[in-house]
Amino acid sequence: MTRDKKLIVGNWKMNLNTHEASLYLHKLSGLVKTHRDVEVVLAPTILALQSLSLQIDRRQFKLAVQNFYWRDHGAYTGEVSAPQLRGVVEYALVGHSERRHIFGETDKDIRNKVQAAIRNDIQPILCIGETTTERVNNETIDTINDQLIGGLTNVTSEELKRITIAYEPVWAIGTGNNAVPADVVKAVKAIRSQIKHLYGVAAADDVRVLYGGSVKADSAADYLAIDGIDGLLVGGASLDAHVFEEIINKAHKGSKPDIKSRGGK
Ligand code: 13P
Repeated sequence: MTRDKKLIVGNWKMNLNTHEASLYLHKLSGLVKTHRDVEVVLAPTILALQSLSLQIDRRQFKLAVQNFYWRDHGAYTGEVSAPQLRGVVEYALVGHSERRHIFGETDKDIRNKVQAAIRNDIQPILCIGETTTERVNNETIDTINDQLIGGLTNVTSEELKRITIAYEPVWAIGTGNNAVPADVVKAVKAIRSQIKHLYGVAAADDVRVLYGGSVKADSAADYLAIDGIDGLLVGGASLDAHVFEEIINKAHKGSKPDIKSRGGK
């Protein structure tokens, strides 16, 4: 993993069926230029992962799973495991606030998923962030610390190199009420300081940190300019190919693309 590249992740959530996902990928691949300093990851519905993995040009896009079960196999009706996703996805969202708050995922579930992903050569994107109540009660930093400790229990320094942290305040997700850069500056400092406490200075400097929550084309550059922010986790705005392409371009330092991608294989 490197912090030289910006990481832009599009989380499509429970939108687009397999056919729509394929059409959307086709459109996006025609628009998005490949830049050496930007890595673009798409997190479609789990149903579309297999077909998109055959359609995708992996120099242009990588895939992430939005969710999976942490056990490797067995009688777990309806679940999909990390070994089943191995080779299909490079990344996995873990601990997204919608998983924590709608589906009741606990820190224990989340740390088990982090472990399962790493065990199966999938890079976890560990999502953390405070609720409105926690924010109002001045508990943002405590929440960040608790969720980092909860999610990273048993993770070694070597394994941490495979993990990206995404700061997504719950009150900013899907609300249009995005965090102001000053909030993100404080959060990213708190994250790196907790990583320093747990793993030391070098790890705190090396770990990738993303911001997510109502990111739009016109706010992307402000977040990307924050010292210590390495990319964006984009929900709604990633479902519009032109807007998502604009966000990706904001992450590219120079104006000229390195390679013109034609899309597809
Ligand atoms: P929105 O960009 O729609 O607020 O969603 C953010 C998010 O949850 C990405 O994972």
